[in-house]
Amino acid sequence: MKPILFAAALSLCSLASSAATPLYLDNNAPLEERVEDALSRMTTADKIAIIHAQSKFCSAGVPSLGIPELWTSDGPHGVRPEVLWDEWDQAGWTNDSCVAFPALTALAASWDPAISRLYGESIGEEAAYRGKDVLLGPGVNIYRTPLNGRNFEYMGEDPYLAGVMVAPYIQGLQSKGVAACVKHFALNNNEVNRHTTNVIVDDRALYEIYLPAFKAAADAGAWSFMAAYNLNGDEHMCHNKRFLNDILKGEWGFDGAVISDWGGVHDTREAITNGLDLEFGTWTNGLSSGASNAYDNYYLARPYLKLIESGEVGTAELDDKARRVLRLMMRTSMNPAQRGSMCSPEHYTAARTIGDAGIVLLKNDGNVLPIKTEGDVKVLVVGENAVKMMTVGGGSSSLKVQREISPLDGLRAALDGKAQVEWVRGYVGDVTGEYNGVVTGQDLTDSRSAEELIAEAVDKARGADYVIFVGGLNKSAGQDCEDADRTGLELPYNQDAVIEALAAANPNLVVVNVSGNAVAMPWVNKVPAIVQAWFLGSEAGNSIADVLTGAVNPSGKLPFTFPTSLNDVGAHALGAYPGTQRADSPIVDLEYKEGILVGYRWADAKNTKPLFPFGHGLSYTTFEYGDATVDSKTIGMGDSITVSVPVTNTGKVPGQEVVQLYIADNKASVVRPPKELKAFKKVALLPGQTEVVKFTIGKDALSFFDDKAHAWTAEPGKFTVLVGSSSRDIRSKAAFTLTDKAVASK
Ligand code: GLC
Repeated sequence: MKPILFAAALSLCSLASSAATPLYLDNNAPLEERVEDALSRMTTADKIAIIHAQSKFCSAGVPSLGIPELWTSDGPHGVRPEVLWDEWDQAGWTNDSCVAFPALTALAASWDPAISRLYGESIGEEAAYRGKDVLLGPGVNIYRTPLNGRNFEYMGEDPYLAGVMVAPYIQGLQSKGVAACVKHFALNNNEVNRHTTNVIVDDRALYEIYLPAFKAAADAGAWSFMAAYNLNGDEHMCHNKRFLNDILKGEWGFDGAVISDWGGVHDTREAITNGLDLEFGTWTNGLSSGASNAYDNYYLARPYLKLIESGEVGTAELDDKARRVLRLMMRTSMNPAQRGSMCSPEHYTAARTIGDAGIVLLKNDGNVLPIKTEGDVKVLVVGENAVKMMTVGGGSSSLKVQREISPLDGLRAALDGKAQVEWVRGYVGDVTGEYNGVVTGQDLTDSRSAEELIAEAVDKARGADYVIFVGGLNKSAGQDCEDADRTGLELPYNQDAVIEALAAANPNLVVVNVSGNAVAMPWVNKVPAIVQAWFLGSEAGNSIADVLTGAVNPSGKLPFTFPTSLNDVGAHALGAYPGTQRADSPIVDLEYKEGILVGYRWADAKNTKPLFPFGHGLSYTTFEYGDATVDSKTIGMGDSITVSVPVTNTGKVPGQEVVQLYIADNKASVVRPPKELKAFKKVALLPGQTEVVKFTIGKDALSFFDDKAHAWTAEPGKFTVLVGSSSRDIRSKAAFTLTDKAVASK
C-alpha cells in the first residue's frame, strides 16, 4: 500500500543521503526536472503500468523507484467508502464514514466563490486523510434538460456562473495535495444512452455554452480531467482527438492527466494517439463486464505493449502519457503537503454553511416565513423527504456518512422548546435505502393507501399553525440519479395531490423541494411559500431549519431556470432529446438543435414565462437598486469599462444580495442571446446600508465565438448593461459603445 512504498522511497533517500536525494524525489527541485528524471529511470513496462488501473480505483506506482500507486475516489460531494480491490461493493471498513457536503447545484446556488473555496478545502482534507490522490469531481456539464439524472452533481445552465464557481473548489481541493478530476469532458448532458450518444453540436454552442466551465477549470490549474462516455464526431470522448489533443491540451495548454470514465475506453490505437493518459474501469471481456483482476487486458496495457514490442507504434505517446501521470503523482501522492482530517467539526460547519448559502427562497407571499414561534405554535411536517436519508443513492456520488441530519431532525432541534413539531408521512416514495452495499438502515415501509395518508395529513394540518411539506426527488432511479434520466418534470409519488390537499386545509403551507433539478409545480399559486432545498448532505436538516426559522436569511439564487413546461426548454421544444438510434448500430445521434439558446437564453429569445427564472431567489429583507452608471460611454477594443450600481438593504434584517450583471449586444452580425450573465457579486448589507457595487468588464465580456474565424470576436457597436436581482428582475440599465477606433483616455 502507498505508505509502505513511499516510506521505501524516503528510506532510499536516507540511504542515498550521502549520494544526494534522487532528483525525482527532491520536493524542492523544479517539477518538470523531477518528471524527466523519473521518466529516465523507468522501463517501458514501468510506463505501461502507470497508465492503466490495477484495481477498481487505483493505478500502479513505480515500485523500483519507490513511487507509490495513485489512489482515486468518488465523488464531488464527499469521499466514497472503500470498495473491494476489484469490485464496486464496499469493503465494509469501519473508519470510512465521511461528511457529505451539499450537492454542487447547491454550491452553484450560493453564487459565492468564497463558499466554493471553503468547499474545496474541506472535501480536500477528507480525501487527503483517506489517502486519496485524485477526487473524481467536480462536474460542470451544462444543464441542457431538466430531465438529466446527474444535474444535481453539476453547476447549472450558465457557463459563466459554473466557471466562476468551479475554480475555487478546484484550487481549494488541490491546496490539500489532492487532484481535482473535472468531469465529464465533454457534452455529457444527459444520462440516457450515455455510453452510445454521439452529440452533434455547432461550434458556437460548443465554445460559448459547453466548454467555458471546463476551460475555467483548466485555467484554474486542474490537475486532471475525466473524459466522458459519450461520443462526438463518432469518436468516444475518452479517446477523442479533437477534444483531448486539439482543444484541452492544444488550445488550452492543459498539462495534467486525462483519466477515462470507468469503462469509457473502447480502442487501443485511438487511446494511444488521441490524448488519453490513464485508463480506468474497462470491461475486460471487451463487451459489458470485467473479467476479475484482468487489468493486463486493458487497452493501454498488454495490447499497447505488444504494439510497441512489434515496432508497430513508437513510444513518444507513451512517454507523454507517463509524464502526465508522473506530474499528477508528484502533485499528489508524492506531495508532502497532502494531509487532511475527516469528520471534523470544521467540516460539519462547512457543510452547514454551504447549505445555508445555497438554499433558495422561491416564494414567500405574506411573509409566511420565517416561522414565528411566539406562543404555543404547532408545526406539522409532512413528507417522506423530511425523514429519508438522501446521502445514499444517486450513483457514484453516493456516500456512507458518519451522520445525516434530516429536515425533521433539524426542525425539531431548532424549534425545541419553541413549538410542537409533529410529522406525518404524506406519501410513500422510495422505501429502499441501499447503494453498493451501503444501507441507510431506515425502515420506510408503510402499507397505507395514498388516500389514507392524505386524510391523515389533512386532518393534522387543520390544527397546525404551520404546515411544512418536504418532498421533491430522492436520487432513486429516475429521480435525480446517474445512468437514468427523469421522464418528465412532474413530482413523483402523488405529491401534487398531497400538496393541493394541504393547501386547502391550511393557508400557512410551506413547500420545501429537495431536488437537483427543476420540477413542475401545478399548485404554485395555492402555496404561499416555496423553498428550493437541494440535496444538502450531512447537515441538510440544520440548514433547512436555519432558513425556515430565520436563523439564516436565505441568499441563494437559482443556477438554472424552472420552466413552466418542457416545451419551454429548447432541447424539448425542438425534439432534440434524447436523440435517434442509427439503424445499424447502437449509436444514438443527438443534435443540440437549440444551439446557444440554452436555459434563460432560450426563455429570453422565445419570451417564455418561467415558473422561476435563472438567478431568482428571495430574501427576508428587501434590496433597492439605484441607477447603474458606466465610467465611459465609449470604449476601445483594449479598454475596460466599470459599471457602478448602488444597492441598499431597505428591510429590517441583515441580508445578502447577488447583484447580477448581464450584457446585451444591441446589434450583431450573428444571432446572440438577448442577454448573457457576465459578472455577479454577492454583497452583505445591514438594514439601511448602501454599497456601490462595481463591475469592471472588458472585450471578453462582449465577445461571441466566431466559428468561421475560430476565434472569440467582439464587434464594434452599442451594448446594454442590465443589472438585476435575477435574469427576469432587471433593476437598472446603462448603454455604452464599443469602437475599434482609438479612444481618448478617460
Ligand atoms: C461512473 C461515473 C463517474 C465516476 C466513475 C467512477 O460511471 O460516470 O462520474 O467517477 O464512474 O465511479
